[in-house]
Amino acid sequence: MFSDVKVMSARSKGALDALVLGHFEGEKPDKRTKERDPNYALSDVLDRPEATGKAGAICEAFPNEDIGAKRIILVGLGKKDGFGPDRLRDIAAAVGRRLASVEAKTVEFDFEGPYDAVKAHHARCAEAIGESLVLLSWDKDMFKGSATPRDRKPGPLSVRMPDKACSDGFEHGLLLGASANVARTISETPPNVCNCDFVVSEAKRIARQTGMKCTVIRGKDLEKHGLAGLITVGAASEHPPALVRLEYTPISPKRGAKPAVLVGKTITYDTGGLSLKISGSMRGMKRDMDGGASVIGAMHAIATAVKPRRPVVALLCVAENSVSDESCRPDDIITFRNGVTVEITNTDAEGRLVLADGLLWACEKENPAYVIDYATLTGGVVVALGNTFAGMWCDDDALRGQLDEASARSGEKIWRLPLHEEYRDMMRSTAADIWNSAPVRAAHPIQGAAFLSYFVDENVPWAHIDIAGVHSVDSEKGPYAKGSCVAFGVRLTAALLDQD
Ligand code: BES
Ligand code: MN
Ligand code: ZN
Repeated sequence: MFSDVKVMSARSKGALDALVLGHFEGEKPDKRTKERDPNYALSDVLDRPEATGKAGAICEAFPNEDIGAKRIILVGLGKKDGFGPDRLRDIAAAVGRRLASVEAKTVEFDFEGPYDAVKAHHARCAEAIGESLVLLSWDKDMFKGSATPRDRKPGPLSVRMPDKACSDGFEHGLLLGASANVARTISETPPNVCNCDFVVSEAKRIARQTGMKCTVIRGKDLEKHGLAGLITVGAASEHPPALVRLEYTPISPKRGAKPAVLVGKTITYDTGGLSLKISGSMRGMKRDMDGGASVIGAMHAIATAVKPRRPVVALLCVAENSVSDESCRPDDIITFRNGVTVEITNTDAEGRLVLADGLLWACEKENPAYVIDYATLTGGVVVALGNTFAGMWCDDDALRGQLDEASARSGEKIWRLPLHEEYRDMMRSTAADIWNSAPVRAAHPIQGAAFLSYFVDENVPWAHIDIAGVHSVDSEKGPYAKGSCVAFGVRLTAALLDQD
C-alpha cells in the first residue's frame, strides 16, 4: 500500500495531495471542519448518495480555490455514539486504501471538530490512525513470485496532523504499528523457512536492533534445566526446540519494580504429532507461533515506543510439533521441573506442554511482578468466542483491571473465562498427576488454562490469553489484509506497559 508512513511537520508548506475531513452519520460537517474548506467545495458533494456519513464511506471534492490541498476526502465517522480510536482504525484503513489508489503522497487528517463534538481524546485518536496506516502498509505480497505481476511500486505517505498532540499520538501509533508488523511478517513466513533456527535468529536480530538482551537455551541446556515440555514436543523435529529469553532493561528503572514477564507459545508448525491433525485442520498451523510472534512484537514495541520504567522479560517456547520415530506418544509420562508428572493423552495438546516450561521458568527464575502468556492454544476457544474476543483467564483483580483498560485502549478484545478447582480436577490423570487433555470435550478451552495453572506459582499474578480465534483474519478486516496475522497482543501489551 505504502512503502513507508511518515509524519510531516505541522508547519510544512505546499499544497497537499489530500485533506481528509470527517462527518458523523446523517450530519453535515461541523463548523470547525467547514473552516478547512472556506469556499465550501463540499457543499456540492454532500447530497450525493455516497455521502452517508456511515463509518468509512468516502466522497471527494475538488476545491477550485487554493485551500492548500488538491482534493478533499470526506469520510463518514459513523454515529456519534461509540465513536473513538477503535472505529477510527477501520475508518483510517478505508481512507488509506483510497489514498493509495489515487497515489496521494502527502495528506492531512483533520478530525478536530468531530473529536471535540464527542470529547474524544485527540492524541489517542491520532494514534489509532497511525497504527492503522502502518498495519495497512504491511506487505501482504512478500511471498508472491514471478507469476504474479506487481502493478506499481508503492511510495511513501507523508501525513500531517493539525496540532502537536495529534502529531505525537500519530507518531506513537506508527511505532506500535511497525512493531505489530514485525510479528505479522514472522507469522507469515512459511514453516519450511520459519523453523526453530529462524525464530531464534529473528529474536537475536530484533534484540540487537532494539538494544535488548537475548539468550537461548537449547540442546543440552534444555536437559540441564529440566525443560521437559520443550524437549518432548520438539523431539520429532529436525529443528531442535529452544527457550528464547529476551530482556528489556529500562534506562532509569523505577525503584524496586519487578519485571513483567511475557510467555509465548511458538510452535513453528503443529502437525498434531502422532495424534495427527486430519487434513483440513492442519492447514494454517504455520501460525501456531502467533503467541510467540506477538510477544516478539510486543518486546519490539516496548523497546522502541513504550520504554516503560519496569523491566520486561519475554520467554518464547519454540518447537515444531512434528512426526517421526522420535515423536512422543499418547501414554508417555513426562516429569516437569517442579516435579509434576504429565501423562500425554493427546500429542496435539502440545502448546500447554511447552508453555508449562515457560511458566515454570518465569515463576522460578524471573521474580515476576506478573506473568502473561499468549497462545493459539485451543480450537475450543474459537467455538466459544469466535473471531471477536480472545479468551482471558486471570483471577488477579489488579492485573485483570489493568488488562481490561489496556484492551479498551488498544481495541484488542479479551473476555474472561473461569478458573476453578473443578476444572483442575478434570485434568487429574489415573496414571500420572495430570494429563494434557481430558478424555472429554467439555470445557475445552478451560481445560488448557486449568492445565497451565499447575505450573504457575499461586502468589504470582497470571493471565493466560488464548488467541486461537483472533490471531489472524480470513478476510479483509479494517487494516488487516485477507488471510493475514493481526499480531494480537502487541498493542494490548504496549498499552498495558504504558500504564506502568
Ligand atoms: N494449535 C492448536 C489450536 C488451534 C486450533 C489454533 C485452531 C488455531 C486454530 C492446538 O495445539 C491444538 O491442536 N489443540 C487441540 C487440543 C486438543 C487435542 C486437546 C484442539 O483445540 O483441538
Ligand atoms: Mn496441537
Ligand atoms: Zn498447537
